[in-house]
Amino acid sequence: MKFACGAKIIGVGAGLPVSVVTNEDLTRLVDTSDEWIETRTGIKERRIVNETESATGLATEAARDALAYAGIEGDTIELVIVATSTPDNLYPSTACQVQAAIGASRAVAFDMEAACTGIIYALSVGQQFIGSGTYKRVLVIGVDVHSRFLNWEDRNTCILFGDGAGAFVLEATEQSDNQMLGTYLRADGNGGHLLWIPNTGTQYPHAGTDGPQPTTRFLQMNGRAIYEFAVNAVPEAVRQATAAAGITVDDIDYMVPHQANIRIIKAAADRLGIKKEQVVTNVDEMGNTSAASIPLALWSAIRRDKVKIPSTMCLVGFGAGLTWGSAVVKWTAVDKRGDAASTSEKAEKAEASIS
Ligand code: ACO
Repeated sequence: MKFACGAKIIGVGAGLPVSVVTNEDLTRLVDTSDEWIETRTGIKERRIVNETESATGLATEAARDALAYAGIEGDTIELVIVATSTPDNLYPSTACQVQAAIGASRAVAFDMEAACTGIIYALSVGQQFIGSGTYKRVLVIGVDVHSRFLNWEDRNTCILFGDGAGAFVLEATEQSDNQMLGTYLRADGNGGHLLWIPNTGTQYPHAGTDGPQPTTRFLQMNGRAIYEFAVNAVPEAVRQATAAAGITVDDIDYMVPHQANIRIIKAAADRLGIKKEQVVTNVDEMGNTSAASIPLALWSAIRRDKVKIPSTMCLVGFGAGLTWGSAVVKWTAVDKRGDAASTSEKAEKAEASIS
């Protein structure tokens, strides 16, 4: 598609719960072990919200962090898009709450949902609004609090997820300086039953009444089917987005995949011939944070100086729906706070790693 103007990412930010839950902690809830979880998933610990934390709070924190990274004020934002499957309420939207919290009084705000691929979808939508000349600055946030929809007695699922928010700031730029080089989005509703959270919407006839309540409102997953889907979807999305960008997989400096599971990430990277040191991951310390995981992985790596700037990176997501997609981005954004950024207490805890 031909756009009137280009877009570039000028900031990245994170919003994280305070509490760290280790694999060892989970052995007190379900029959599992640190060794099993780490070997099968690569996860060592994750952040989980406490009673006072919420999706809106984490999203607002990520937004403020991304704005500070970009060195801009909230009132310069014209559009706020929040990708989430786990909002605090059906409405108002999380985006409207963030818009008010950051003082983006001129901004339009809405939520959208594409599960773990949500941040890729949201980046693409933001790019369209900038490309059409409608808005010049767009805040894109991915946030999920899956811990509220997990069965903490089910070892198949409760070990996989963490809570968190990640944000990007997109800005209009001259077409010649366009840094959103290519995107690719896909969906296949035929696989909807493979990963879902039942009885949380209007399909359940007694939702919102005192009538009989459902026996489960927990996340349900066919782990093996999702694994198979993901190891095919990631290479496809990376190849298609790089082709759309007019480059090849060999031209990518880094792949920043959705952080579901280290085995999925490694299998997909192998199929693409991408070297281990080019793969950005922090699944060991955050688990699967769904729509937040891609910006959070990049945020961690940048905070630890693990990413060379400028570089060409391929962000790639997959998740419920089924959905999958990718965005090839030239990354030139540096943290306008300089060294001050590394003093954050939470960043000290969040040790990034390149797998
Ligand atoms: N601790 C110990 N044992 C466990 C645990 C656990 N936490 N969970 C399952 N097991 C057991 C199973 O009960 C099973 O035992 P059995 O053989 O006696 O029946 C055994 O381990 C093997 O189970 P499998 O399901 O075959 O294990 P597998 O090697 O497939 O790994 C996993 C499971 C990690 C879930 C894998 O299927 C996977 O990675 N799937 C993708 C999941 C995922 O990433 N989902 C989210 C992606 S999409 C999104 O992000 C929204």
